[in-house]
Amino acid sequence: MTETPLPKATKTVFIKTYGCQMNVYDSERMKDVLAPIGYGPVAGPEGADLVILNTCHIREKATEKVYSELGQIKKQKAKTGGKMIVAVAGCVAQAEGEEIMRRAPVVDLVLGPQAYHKLPEMIARVHRKTGERLETKFETLEKFDALPKTRSVDGPSAFLSIQEGCDKFCTFCVVPYTRGAELSRPVDDIVVEARSLASQGVREVNLLGQNVNAYHGAGPKLEGAAEWGLAQMIRHVAKVGGFDRIRYTTSHPRDMDDDLITAHGDTPELMPFLHLPVQSGSNTILKAMNRGHTREHYLSIMARVKAVRPDIGFASDFIVGFPGESEADFEDTMDLVREVNFCIAYSFKYSSRPGTPAAEMFGQVPEEVKTTRLHRLQALLWEQQTAFNLSKIGQTVPVLVTGKARMPGQMAGRSPWLQSVYFDGDESLNGQIVELKIDHATQNSISGQVLRVKEVAV
Ligand code: SAH
Ligand code: SF4
Ligand code: F3S
Repeated sequence: MTETPLPKATKTVFIKTYGCQMNVYDSERMKDVLAPIGYGPVAGPEGADLVILNTCHIREKATEKVYSELGQIKKQKAKTGGKMIVAVAGCVAQAEGEEIMRRAPVVDLVLGPQAYHKLPEMIARVHRKTGERLETKFETLEKFDALPKTRSVDGPSAFLSIQEGCDKFCTFCVVPYTRGAELSRPVDDIVVEARSLASQGVREVNLLGQNVNAYHGAGPKLEGAAEWGLAQMIRHVAKVGGFDRIRYTTSHPRDMDDDLITAHGDTPELMPFLHLPVQSGSNTILKAMNRGHTREHYLSIMARVKAVRPDIGFASDFIVGFPGESEADFEDTMDLVREVNFCIAYSFKYSSRPGTPAAEMFGQVPEEVKTTRLHRLQALLWEQQTAFNLSKIGQTVPVLVTGKARMPGQMAGRSPWLQSVYFDGDESLNGQIVELKIDHATQNSISGQVLRVKEVAV
């Protein structure tokens, strides 16, 4: 494929990313949108022509960070004589656009997650001083159509967004409001993007969506464009891209269909790792959360996946202190954790979000109780994570090398189970898959000696 060369970067952009992997992906795509109008990325805000904060609204703390960061950016902007353009993008922009503009006059632009394809137009408006600063319409498909078809990537592992938005409306969560309705990209579009990644040496692709396993996109036009589910898509992307590793995140227990479970057994490129957030182990709380699944359903999925892929590693998200959570409900969560045995997990104190149903519920749990429960849960999860890492000692593990480690003479990479891996080696191994004999493990990483380098498939 011949690609039009990009203009030389004459201006600089600094993007700071908060929140989930969707935001990481979006920040990458913003760079792709800005490159044709001459913006090249820089590592810090000092003296930058454009600063973008790509924000997260999921918990109160995440949102507060934006306002404190804007205080810092204000000083940087003053140093440029006011020339720096400051943009707030992402989920806080979507939820609180008007408030940001009122509270932070330093901000020139506010754009929601479905509007960043309009960045060039919005920047032009700032230069023309039209006074229009806000873009928060949901135009998901229009956005994907408008984005450059090719990607510039950095490293052997890349995200690819295939589905956006959420129709599940868990009672604690802002995502359905900040990201809009669930929408799947057509397979043909995804394939174009996947090929662009593969042509640049990407060996691991992580398919993204807020509810990625709810994926139901139009199939290839050549095959009649009938709807495809996630498993079909994974098998196809593995084939057309020639990727060594495929992952998908984040999924919902309600959408774990038979074909996807089967794919874990029959698709070697699909990594033996499943991040399936459960949030709570108590059926009472799951119901109040409007999760639409029970503890038993969750456990049965885990058992079925394990049956087809015995070396699977399970990951999850938990919320403690949801309104009405009793000590017994919390014990149900601890019990579920003991039953599943997770290799990694993310746990949070419930954070009340304005406008969500749970914010109005009776039985809000005191902060100290939430803190104690979080500590108890995390102690158990860390124990399991450490045990999982230790269990790899003596095994041969394939590692995708992602770059230099902090320690001189060492390289870093990732195992199939997303563990951080360190080993003695040089930069010639970057982007390769090496087999390591694991001889050491801690809570956060494993390390070992290189046995051999895997051939690149051609
Ligand atoms: N779409 C994904 C998760 C999106 S948000 C899913 O459905 O699983 C990532 C995680 O943040 C959630 O899994 C949940 O554990 C946590 N989270 C979301 N809203 C929260 C809130 N109000 N308080 C605390 N944690 C929250
Ligand atoms: Fe939020 Fe629930 Fe949707 Fe996940 S499924 S994004 S937790 S509403
Ligand atoms: Fe945060 Fe938005 Fe992701 S609220 S978690 S950045 S979808």
